[in-house]
Amino acid sequence: MIETERLLIRKFTPSDAVDLFAYLSLPEVYRFEPGEPTTLQEASDLARERAEADNFLAVVLKASGKMIGHLYFEQRQPPEFRTWEIGYIFNPAYQRLGYASEAASALVDYAFANLSPHRIMARCDQKNPASWKLLEKIGFTREGAFKQVAYFCMDEVGNPIWIDAFEYSKLEKGR
Ligand SMILES: CC(C)(COP(=O)(O)OP(=O)(O)OC[C@H]1O[C@@H](n2cnc3c(N)ncnc32)[C@H](O)[C@@H]1OP(=O)(O)O)[C@@H](O)C(=O)NCCC(=O)NCCS
Repeated sequence: MIETERLLIRKFTPSDAVDLFAYLSLPEVYRFEPGEPTTLQEASDLARERAEADNFLAVVLKASGKMIGHLYFEQRQPPEFRTWEIGYIFNPAYQRLGYASEAASALVDYAFANLSPHRIMARCDQKNPASWKLLEKIGFTREGAFKQVAYFCMDEVGNPIWIDAFEYSKLEKGR
């Protein structure tokens, strides 16, 4: 459990299903992410799976107990490189209020204090300023720009819609 001024960051529980469905059911959250809108049943399955996993964390408003988004945090291979990847999706009703950067910053601080990472990195679509501004706000540095590194959907004739991405990182001892 990580606590910030306004938030608790904790493991998922099966009872997060309804709050998870509230945003994973919306097409707009997949604009820069793989996946498609979930049903309530799929969100329930995901909440149960994530309750057993270590790589997704629920972000909850302290004031109301509402789950408003989640963080992804996973160690990349090989383990001796001590590199972790961070990601995030927040409910659009709670975006642009500083919650996502508050949560991501607290997780990064927690990780540097407790998990001994050498490097924490993130990749985001160049057309997703919400993501790269968040990373810059919490002290990440843009390391590179990549052309057509991935695609999450196809066009109307079945060709991949390739995305250009930025990669950001924060190092254990700065630069
Ligand atoms: C990325 C995401 C978590 C950011 O959430 P958020 O609640 O807007 O984040 P914050 O309120 O902490 O804002 C972070 C910074 O981004 C800026 N920002 C947010 N949305 C923006 C937008 N649409 N355009 C430009 N800047 C934006 C904010 O102004 C803030 O910067 P500032 O404080 O210097 O002004 C949210 O947009 C989201 O869940 N998007 C859908 C999923 C997604 O794309 N995830 C990332 C995949 S890499």
